[in-house]
Amino acid sequence: MAKIIAGVGSSHVPAIGAALDNGRTEEPYWQRVFSGFEKSKEWMAKTRPDVAIVVYNDHASAFSVDLIPTFALGCAAEFPPADEGWGPRPVPVVKGHPQLAAHIAQSVILDEFDITVVNKMEVDHGLTVPLNLLCGRKEPNEEWPFKVIPLAVNVVMYPPPTGHRCYMLGKAIKKAVESCREDLEVVIFGTGGLSHQISGPRAGLINSKWDKTFLDNLTRDPKKLTRIPHIEYMREAGAEGIEMVMWLIMRGALDEDVNEVYRFYTVPASNTAVGHIILENKRRPAAKGKRSASPTKRAAQVTKLAVRRSKR
Ligand SMILES: [Fe+2]
Repeated sequence: MAKIIAGVGSSHVPAIGAALDNGRTEEPYWQRVFSGFEKSKEWMAKTRPDVAIVVYNDHASAFSVDLIPTFALGCAAEFPPADEGWGPRPVPVVKGHPQLAAHIAQSVILDEFDITVVNKMEVDHGLTVPLNLLCGRKEPNEEWPFKVIPLAVNVVMYPPPTGHRCYMLGKAIKKAVESCREDLEVVIFGTGGLSHQISGPRAGLINSKWDKTFLDNLTRDPKKLTRIPHIEYMREAGAEGIEMVMWLIMRGALDEDVNEVYRFYTVPASNTAVGHIILENKRRPAAKGKRSASPTKRAAQVTKLAVRRSKR
């Protein structure tokens, strides 16, 4: 059976991708940001999920004002990096998991979440920067260490979904994953934020106190966060702070009780507060390689044992 084992929250600041791509990670400004993800890379290498569901928003790369799906699930076999105006990022093509993605699409739609199914899509920094932060730099001819199911959320054009709707979609995704018979360990990412505003008179706004309270509640009392209206995100966390509703999809897909295994927060990175959190479900399946055998395998083992005993 498939299972969501952990959630990762991570900002997806485009300048982080540019720093990586242009070899600037050792500069003191960027070193401060990247050093906060060293432990996360170790955690990811140890966790070795089979699939990551990455909740992110498209920044007018795959979609435009011509087409604005509220929730768009990537069901393709692969998702090339998008050209965001200066050529595609030099990162590997993202490989999907069409079977699990189709299963999730069917389950959540029958659960009354009318998501858009996307069978062809390019992915931008919103998805690839968090992958880099958790997996390190990868050349285009390498592979990401797990399959990825992109879930694009509209937080660019009004109206974005409410935090409560996002949280409930997370719960529907959890139910969908847990009803998949394939033996898969899944990690879910919520990306974007934290507080930032990139234009207008309040450009450069950062509200660390509000961000940190959000992170505290994400672990301990996510339902409280589901009651935050759009206007409060805008007022307290800036116009682009609304991206934080995507973290509630990740949180909704986890168990009620989670262990916060890591947190990192730094300001600024390109006028944005960088936030990061790793939450693990307390009920974890056995470690890889030590997983209990399937019922069929167990039956075969019992038969072998019985035959061996009868020969003694
Ligand atoms: Fe963004």
